[in-house]
Amino acid sequence: MKCLKVPRRLMGEIRVKSVPGYEILYEGDYALIPVSEVREGQEVVECNPPVKRGTPKLNEIVPGVSSFYLVGDIMIISPRRELTQEELGRIMRTYSKVRAIYLRKKVKGELRVNELVHVAGEKRTTTTFNEGGLKYFVDVAKVYVNPSMATERLRVVESVPSSSRVLDAFTGYGALALQLARKLGYVVAGDLNLDGLLMASLSAKMNSSKLVLDLVHFDAQYLPFREKAFDLAIGDNPTMIDRFVEELCRVSRSVILYKLGRIQDGWEKVNDYSKDLVIMKRVLRCNE
Ligand SMILES: C[S@@+](CC[C@H](N)C(=O)[O-])C[C@H]1O[C@@H](n2cnc3c(N)ncnc32)[C@H](O)[C@@H]1O
Repeated sequence: MKCLKVPRRLMGEIRVKSVPGYEILYEGDYALIPVSEVREGQEVVECNPPVKRGTPKLNEIVPGVSSFYLVGDIMIISPRRELTQEELGRIMRTYSKVRAIYLRKKVKGELRVNELVHVAGEKRTTTTFNEGGLKYFVDVAKVYVNPSMATERLRVVESVPSSSRVLDAFTGYGALALQLARKLGYVVAGDLNLDGLLMASLSAKMNSSKLVLDLVHFDAQYLPFREKAFDLAIGDNPTMIDRFVEELCRVSRSVILYKLGRIQDGWEKVNDYSKDLVIMKRVLRCNE
């Protein structure tokens, strides 16, 4: 491979396109930058730079532990075996952003809240993070948080026409509702989990006074809205969506439904859930 040889002291001044995936080598006062194109007058040498390594995967640090997710500076893991303090320390050193680690025991009840056990770092379940350019405040012990749906949320926002009247019927901490409010100017969002609604309200204030949303505490089986008050209702409650479809359709002209199960005709896969189960989605016109 070819490397551009430049004095270290000039590193901040030169503009080169280095080959992605390779480290810069340092030799004495010189840096060797892997390049694929060379311009006249540049000093080039043969080199053998090491391959760049990103943050290693969790199961490379602690074998047997692969399932985890990060919410801000909190890591939530579901290991298949007990981890030693030494292994937990290794995780914290490698993921330097992580300030606390919790074990996820199970997702409990109607509110889909994680049952968590603290195992390392700070004993704190509140954190902030960014998604789609907005800041969120959450308490991972009090509300359902699923970062793996982030791309899907942005896809939904993109697909909703600008002038739509939208209800986010299972909003949790407002992950989707805030994004919708930014695009549409106004959105209605609700949930059975009052803590989630308080988090959504805090997050809206943290971002901008221009994020206008009405947060309503309700049981989605009895929505406090008139017939066809909305153009679109979002039904992101995959484990029990069937029991809400009729009521969502009463208040809205169309519904985006999410469902957990084996993939079925007419449904689009959104995410894997387990070996056989997926989260799938369907848009339903309510007069169908
Ligand atoms: C899978 S979570 C999705 C939350 C949110 N959409 C998100 O992406 O983070 C399902 C949500 O439905 C809420 N929920 C469950 N039963 C409900 C009901 N009967 N009425 C309103 N919300 C309910 C839970 O509190 C939870 O926030």
